[in-house]
Formats: sequence, C-alpha cells, structure tokens
Amino acid sequence: APAKTEDFASPIPAGVYAETVLSVTHYTDRLFRFTMTRPQGFRFRSGEFAMIGLMIDGKPIFRAYSIASPAWAEELEFFSIKVPDGPLTSHLQAIKPGDQVLMRKKPTGTLVLDALTPGRRLYMFSTGTGIAPFASLIRDPETYEKYEQVILTHTTRDVAELKYGFDLVEEIKNDELLQEVVGDKLRHYATVTREDFDYQGRITDLISSGKLFTDLGVPPLDPAIDRGMICGSSAMLKDTKDLLEKAGLNEGANSKPAEFVIERAFVG
Ligand code: A2P
Repeated sequence: APAKTEDFASPIPAGVYAETVLSVTHYTDRLFRFTMTRPQGFRFRSGEFAMIGLMIDGKPIFRAYSIASPAWAEELEFFSIKVPDGPLTSHLQAIKPGDQVLMRKKPTGTLVLDALTPGRRLYMFSTGTGIAPFASLIRDPETYEKYEQVILTHTTRDVAELKYGFDLVEEIKNDELLQEVVGDKLRHYATVTREDFDYQGRITDLISSGKLFTDLGVPPLDPAIDRGMICGSSAMLKDTKDLLEKAGLNEGANSKPAEFVIERAFVG
C-alpha cells in the first residue's frame, strides 16, 4: 500500500516495529480483537506481552498488550478493551486493515509455562481481556505436553463479552492439527456477573464456595497437583492470589518457578 502523508511526518522510533493490521473484529462497544503481521525474527513465548502503540499527533503512545496468538503463529493477535478517553485505545479501536501499528521489539511477561513447577492440572483464571495470554497458551501444544488437564476460566460482566472465548475454543475444536494435541484436555468455564446465564458469579466466589470444583467435577485446589495463572484487574488478581495462597500454592516468577503466576490485564 502507498505510504500515507503521516508516515513521513512521524518517522518510526528506534527499537520499534511498524506492522500492518490484517483484521479487526468488534465484539461489543467495549471489546475488539485485531491481528497484524508478525515481524521477521520477532520471537516470544506463549503468554508474554508486548508494548503496542500508534503515532498520535506525531508522538508514539504505547500500552502493554498480551499477545493472544501462540508462539508458532504467523500473525500476531490482540484482544483489547476500548477505553472511551484512553490515550491509546480511543485511537486503536478505529484501526482498519492496512493501517500501521507499532510494537516495541522486546516481549516479556510472567504468564509463561517456564515460571511454573511441574504439575498435572493447569488453571487459567481470567476476567475481561485477561483471557488474552491464555488465548495464546491454549493454542500452544507445549501446554498439553506439560499438563493432563487445562481449565480456562473466563468471567465477564455480560454474555456478549464471553464471545471471544467461545470463538477461540470453537476454533481449536475445528483445527485438526491442534485438536490432535488438545484432545479432551481443555475445559472452558465461562461465567458472567451482571446478567442471567448458565454459570454466574465472580471466579473468586466460585472458588471460595467450591462451586467451581463441583461444576467441573474436580477435587479442590491441591498444591501437589494444581498450577495456576491469573490475569485480570488489580483487584481480581489480589483476591484470586489470596485464595490460591490459602490453598497452599506459592507465587512464582521466571527466575523462581512455583505453583502460580500473575499478570495485570492492561488497559488504557
Ligand atoms: P463484577 O461485575 O461483580 O464487577 P471488568 O469488565 O470491570 O474488568 O470486570 C470483568 C469481570 O471481573 C466482571 O465480571 C467483574 O465482576 C469481575 N471482577 C471485578 N473485580 C473482581 C474481583 N476483585 N475479584 C473477582 N472478580 C472481579
């Protein structure tokens, strides 16, 4: 595509890739997904995040975004909130295929398989766009090589906000190669907090009451078997972390693997 006038007015900053938007899907007035080209030589581990940005009034504005596509994918996928007056998302929500998006060259993050000690069952607890790093990990064969069972929980305000997660699980079921690795190891537990639905309530309440485990037909959290990853708002992270610690799981990091890891769901 021909370069736009702005491209000349705002040169790409150093240490930054400029990639092309391939697709944009709007789910609700608060949520959208987009894909873009993956730079040659850009490597990341499934579950990591990158700094994504746009040139706005001649200045690059960046925010952290979990990469929602798996490490093997040809394209990069992101799942984003639309913050009405957000310095980045108020502009990012208007992108169209062919537009240019910036990405800093170095990905990072703690929601990686390497930050956990070996276990049998992996829980991924997410709220809102916090599902994004897990969208990456549930499409990575390594997740299923390391765990006998993978339980993805996703809690949103209303049913429309769950659609990204349902589409994702459907995509996995329809992907012959991936399905061979995933088999029946993946469970998707979706709940809402502000509307009627089959499953309702905050994940923290569902853990506390034990309803999560009875619904899934699995035993309560056990540090010998269960591992956890948490991604959501600050309050959700804190409350979920407290419950995992109460069950005897310890927080780990890249440098010191343990039974669970945490990442903020980024907005702005
Ligand atoms: P609630 O509707 O009770 O606030 P948001 O879209 O605001 O990020 O919220 C996503 C989901 O996270 C909502 O279902 C919300 O429930 C839930 N949530 C908010 N705070 C917490 C918390 N401290 N612990 C667990 N879930 C939370």
